[in-house]
This record gives sequence, structure tokens and C-alpha cells, in this order.
Amino acid sequence: MIAAMQSALEPAAREAGEIAHLWWIYLWVLSGVFLIVAVCLFFAICKQNLRPEGLAMSAAPGRQRYGRALRIVAAAVVATVLVLFALLVLDFFTGNAIYAKPDPNAMAIKVTGHQWWWEIEYKNPQPSEIMTTANEIHVPIGKTVKLELQSTDVLHSFWVPSMHGRKDLVPGSPSTTWFVANRGGEFRGQCAEYCGEQHAHMRLTFTAETPADFERWLAAQKQSAPEPANDRQQRGRALFISSQCMMCHTIQGTNARAALGPDLTHIASRSLLAAGEIPNTPENMARWIDNPQKIKPGTRMPANKFSSNDLNALVEYLESLK
Ligand code: CUA
Repeated sequence: MIAAMQSALEPAAREAGEIAHLWWIYLWVLSGVFLIVAVCLFFAICKQNLRPEGLAMSAAPGRQRYGRALRIVAAAVVATVLVLFALLVLDFFTGNAIYAKPDPNAMAIKVTGHQWWWEIEYKNPQPSEIMTTANEIHVPIGKTVKLELQSTDVLHSFWVPSMHGRKDLVPGSPSTTWFVANRGGEFRGQCAEYCGEQHAHMRLTFTAETPADFERWLAAQKQSAPEPANDRQQRGRALFISSQCMMCHTIQGTNARAALGPDLTHIASRSLLAAGEIPNTPENMARWIDNPQKIKPGTRMPANKFSSNDLNALVEYLESLK
């Protein structure tokens, strides 16, 4: 559903660049090894078949043949050990480079894994400046980002291949990862550890942008939800805070303050719904509210039965939350 890039071979951060570099070295070296082995095997088979006596021993004295075979095998073993050792050293240096010393000025983002969506919190020492969103991360290019990863239920794994390698979210044991985006773009992330029925549909969008664009986005996200602009939106909001919606969701600026499901304060600014499952359109929003199980079987969100008039008012209100 997300057209954005999801490839470890399209790095957009220094860390992912180091990993991609190592990947290409492995590919070329191991392809070379495979080719050499295949060619040797091919000639060995041909040589056997060309002998007049088929598989019978050649006429060369046994001792001489044995000595030559021993030298070839010894040389192959030494070459194998050297290649493996060289790859081990490269792997070690790559590991060192991508787990570099933490930056005290890094921007901290708390990422919490849920079955099956991502809670994203932009941390701030001032509680009123904390911003919470879902399934969408924006970062400024050139700034060190520190992700604090945790899970509320089962094991998940955070993976935005263009930024860094995967990192597990272990319940009860928070972990951190660091990276610096070095070019802009929209990238896709994916949960990379089986976490239940909808594991494959636990995605997120990741945007790297200029610091000015990022600051604009963050400032807008910190605002309370806009007030309803007309009677229908007013009705939509009243329905939201008088129905079971508010038992799970937050809309800043209203009485809905629950945190079981994604924060919906600026839901209309997100391009996708249901952790990357469907594009954020009024039709999809209505389908999702009416029967989420049809779109994402097993999701924790229950069906919500509204009359079509009420559903339309609710959708109109939610789609006004830019
Ligand atoms: Cu979360 Cu797989």
C-alpha cells in the first residue's frame, strides 16, 4: 500500500550506508567464490568423463597424484580461511561504525510496539511539549536520532532498511538505536519479527526532510486538534466523545484521552490508516470504523455500528483533523 522505498540497498543514512556497503562486498566476494568452485567442479567432471577408462584411475604414479591433490586442497583451505577472516574483519569494523558513540544532542523518539501498530512519541523535558503520533516518523536530515524502543505486548522488531539495521522491541527491556539521515525522502518501515496474526501489516512511514520542514511538521503536530468547522463536524466530534471511540483513542483538545489505540489528534495529516494497510480516504475511514476486522482480521479495534448519517459525520470530523 505504501509506494515509498523499502530497501536496505537504498541507504539514506550513514548507518544503512555502511550496512549496504558490507552487503555489496559480501555479494561480490561470495559470488566470486561460488564461480571459482563451480568452474573447478565443471572441469573435474569433464576430466573424469574424458578418460578412456571412464572413472578408472589415471596412469600417473599414485604417490605423485596424491602429493598434488594434497597441495591443491591445502591451498584451497588456506584461501577459504583467509577470505572468511577478511569478511569477519570487515563485519567487525562495520559493526563498530554503525554502533558509534551516542550523541548527547540527539533527538529522542520513543517507539512503542503494539499488536499491530507503532506508537511514536517525540520526547521533550517539558511535558507540554511532548508530541504523540502513530505509524509515522519524521526526522530532520543531518541530526542524530536516538530511538528508544519498547513493547507493551510481544516481541516486535523495528526496521526501516534505508536508515539502519533492525532492532528488536523486547517487552520489559527497552533498547536504543542511533542513526543520522543523510538525504531526504519517504521510506517505509516494517515490523521484522513475527508478532501474531497481523505481523505482516505492521508498517510505518518514515520521512527524512530538511530541518525547516521538520520543525513545521512538529509544530503542527503539537497543536491541539482543530475545532469543528461546521455542524456536521460538530456532530462528528460529539459522536466520537460519546461512543466507545474515546475508550481507546486520544484527540488533544477534547475529553478523549485514552491511549490503548493510536492518537488521532492529527489523523487527517497521515497518508495511511491501520499501520499502512489502507490509504487515508473518507471511504476507507468509514469502512475501517464500521468493520476493522474485515480489513485487518484480528486487529484489536472492534466494529462500531453507526447509522450511515452518523458515520459520515464522524468521518467528516476525523478527516478535518489535519
Ligand atoms: Cu510487530 Cu511483527
